[in-house]
Amino acid sequence: METTQSSDIEDPAVVRADNVCRDYQVGEMTIPVLKNVNMVVKKGEFVAIMGPSGSGKSTLMNLIGCLDRPTCGAVLLMGKDVNSISDNELAKLRGLEIGFVFQSFNLVPRLTALENVELPTYANSRPGVDNRKYAKELLELVGLEDRMNYRPTELSGGQSQRVAVARALINDPSLILADEPTGNLDSKTGKEIMELFTDLNNKGRTIIMITHDPNLAKKYADRVVYLKDGYVEDRTNTAN
Ligand SMILES: Nc1ncnc2c1ncn2[C@@H]1O[C@H](COP(=O)(O)OP(=O)(O)OP(=O)(O)O)[C@@H](O)[C@H]1O
Ligand SMILES: [Mg+2]
Repeated sequence: METTQSSDIEDPAVVRADNVCRDYQVGEMTIPVLKNVNMVVKKGEFVAIMGPSGSGKSTLMNLIGCLDRPTCGAVLLMGKDVNSISDNELAKLRGLEIGFVFQSFNLVPRLTALENVELPTYANSRPGVDNRKYAKELLELVGLEDRMNYRPTELSGGQSQRVAVARALINDPSLILADEPTGNLDSKTGKEIMELFTDLNNKGRTIIMITHDPNLAKKYADRVVYLKDGYVEDRTNTAN
């Protein structure tokens, strides 16, 4: 009888949070922000995370994205317990499997759009890929072929966020984490970014997106994970 199976077969979840807590130490006080978070995101899902300001959404996103480690409990990424792998392995996993998009774009001001898109490949790169060529293709994909040599100060907010999305895709990650990606954009530009995400999701990418906008969550996500008082509740989208 076959008994050996890869962890991917046993656990097809892209992200799994098991009883995760995260405390912050402020002076002598311990502030529990995440108390007991359980969450599973499967390959190909588009999940929205919602909840009041200060409820711990970004804290949870940072844990999922391996930018931070939980105080207790486990975060598993593609079946791997992030606490059991070395810092080097973790950086590699993060660099190749996860693309980040932030509310405030986080572009490097002195680099051009093209260089910003290429930037993650300086640390982690897929073997045999012409990163410059791929960065140009991604900028074309997000409609910025005529802005490749512009610097962030010469771009609008929507254009900057499109550069950030292209940068998130440079290593062809299976998971995209977006923390209020449309928070600084007008509704038309926000819609363009969301349509870009929908395309990426249709091509098989898993997307986890924090948003304050219930209409956005309802329209684009498969389901909403709602964070409140350090716990999550799953509100599956049942709306037509
Ligand atoms: N480094 C830190 N040290 C101490 N407390 C922190 C730290 N980072 C976050 N917190 C606290 O943790 C709580 C959750 O913060 P977090 O940024 O995760 O909230 P959020 O849900 O993303 O809010 P928002 O919607 O405003 O972005 C807040 O009360 C915040 O003060
Ligand atoms: Mg936040």
